[in-house]
Amino acid sequence: MIVCDSVRKKSIQFHYDLSTLFYRAFWGRHIHHGLWEQDESPVVAQQRLTETLAGLAGIKRGDAVLDVGCGMGGSSIHLAKVLGCQVTGVTLSPVQRRWATWEAWRSGVQSSTRFLCHDAETLELPDESMDVVWSIECTEHLYDKARFFQRAARWVRPGGRVAICAWLAGERTDPEAQQRVFDVCEGFLCPSLGTAADYDNWMTAAGLQMEQEINWTDRVARTWEICDERVRKSRVRWLARMIDSETTLFLDRFPTLLQAYREGSMQYGCFIARKV
Ligand SMILES: C[S@@+](CC[C@H](N)C(=O)[O-])C[C@H]1O[C@@H](n2cnc3c(N)ncnc32)[C@H](O)[C@@H]1O
Repeated sequence: MIVCDSVRKKSIQFHYDLSTLFYRAFWGRHIHHGLWEQDESPVVAQQRLTETLAGLAGIKRGDAVLDVGCGMGGSSIHLAKVLGCQVTGVTLSPVQRRWATWEAWRSGVQSSTRFLCHDAETLELPDESMDVVWSIECTEHLYDKARFFQRAARWVRPGGRVAICAWLAGERTDPEAQQRVFDVCEGFLCPSLGTAADYDNWMTAAGLQMEQEINWTDRVARTWEICDERVRKSRVRWLARMIDSETTLFLDRFPTLLQAYREGSMQYGCFIARKV
């Protein structure tokens, strides 16, 4: 695991409060990578990642789902609308909570969704109250990932699943690769990035049985070619300089992330584990 001690939770919240509008304008309703097959649009690729995870997690009609780090509610609304799930979305950002609530209302799923502004690391839920704990690209922002999985395992019912997509530190241990991962952590406000083996250990130690562990690095990396090009063609970098140094650093680290995927210092993983 690579650790970046300088990341503050307040900065993570500020980042999502500030940038949600930009994510929506420049990327789409999901704040996550696309999963490419060929040269589809980013919107199609993002939707494929959500739908593929739902399929792998075996989500059934009416399942109770906790969406940890729900962003604008992209996954939550999809699961409620298409699969009739009862979804609780949790985000650190009050702006995102309001945004997701409004989008759910616009999509006609306000009665099967609820959105909370809460830190997932201190959230209290009744034991065995969920069929699925779902999280796309939020665990990167958590400080105690092992403890999070202990709690997630308590929240799911026996037979329930924990379905995770996450940015990972790769297998390379040379100083250059480790520095690259650190630079990504710093720019993208991740207090740490675990390896695939770390995720496996955390989930297994929490009593979950790993069912699927998939490396999607090659299928998602294109995200950063497109994002970097969109930033270069816009005035966003100029705007970021007016805001603060953390927002500028975030944009400056897009090419770092792409390089990290290409050289193997980072990976992108999908994990499905079951509570037995
Ligand atoms: C990269 S976005 C992913 C959003 C969403 N899962 C999606 O795929 O569109 C990360 C999300 O994690 C949330 N987040 C980060 N740290 C969190 C925490 N400690 N508790 C709850 N949410 C958190 C952010 O507010 C944001 O919504």
